[in-house]
Amino acid sequence: MEKLEAALAKAREMRRAALGAPEVVREKVAPGSGQLAGVWISLPEVQLSPMKALRNRITALAGNKDATPYDMLRSRTIRLMKEKGWTRLAITSPGAACGKTTIALNLALSLSRQKDLKVMLIDLDLRRPSLHRTIGHTPARSMHEVLEGAAGFEDVAVRMGANLIIGMNAAPSRHPAELLQSAATRETLDAIERRWQPDIMLFDMSPMLASDDNVGFLGNVDCALLIAAAESTTLSNIDLCEKELAQLTNVLGVVLNKCRYPDDSVGYAYGSYA
Ligand SMILES: Nc1ncnc2c1ncn2[C@@H]1O[C@H](COP(=O)(O)OP(=O)(O)O)[C@@H](O)[C@H]1O
Ligand SMILES: [Mg+2]
Repeated sequence: MEKLEAALAKAREMRRAALGAPEVVREKVAPGSGQLAGVWISLPEVQLSPMKALRNRITALAGNKDATPYDMLRSRTIRLMKEKGWTRLAITSPGAACGKTTIALNLALSLSRQKDLKVMLIDLDLRRPSLHRTIGHTPARSMHEVLEGAAGFEDVAVRMGANLIIGMNAAPSRHPAELLQSAATRETLDAIERRWQPDIMLFDMSPMLASDDNVGFLGNVDCALLIAAAESTTLSNIDLCEKELAQLTNVLGVVLNKCRYPDDSVGYAYGSYA
């Protein structure tokens, strides 16, 4: 682990010296209003059964010791984002099955346990959407239909508790790259943010190496987390993707998931940028 972190830190340092961090230019929304809670509560609620949560490694539902590693990731993420005034975080990985969806949902749940924080989690892995399977709820309409203008966000969005709204897909999109880089997607997300006023928006993305879906989209977010799987992601692929990601947005850190011998019992380690 130390070797990996040292290698990544060295690669980063060289990159930073050559490039500098990219600037994010995006209109910020107005602060929340008192009526917001009522609007959020109007959405249908989905509940995750403890059995299903356990099976799908969703351990951050309640604030017990199983949630601790995600609560720690939450604290670091929120600290860094607040410092910079960032609200949108993408979660991606080099290859498939690194644990993006698992970590995105756990992090969203952990964030939403903070009373004063309104959280939105959107599934934008439009080739292989899987958040609906992890949660065990298939929406009648999909998030990609919302982005296409064929459905309203209200037709798709569900609530988990009072502070978390989730936008899932029932099926893949047929033109994910075009859709994700379109102006319509940017405008729709801005409109959703204006209407629902989340404090933080998380985007569960597709893997970096499988397609160019994320390239045209990442200008819409403030920052990203890169999830790597200890058992399958190579160091050169982590470095390659981190490099590419750093050209597209601000990289908050690399989460090394599926560690066989982690420092704690949950199976991931976190390498932070800041
Ligand atoms: N830390 C972990 N240890 C073992 N298995 C994990 C871990 N995190 C996720 N998984 C499992 O790996 C599989 C892929 O996870 P998923 O979150 O769907 O990945 P992705 O969204 O990157 O494709 C799922 O079966 C999930 O339960
Ligand atoms: Mg996924």
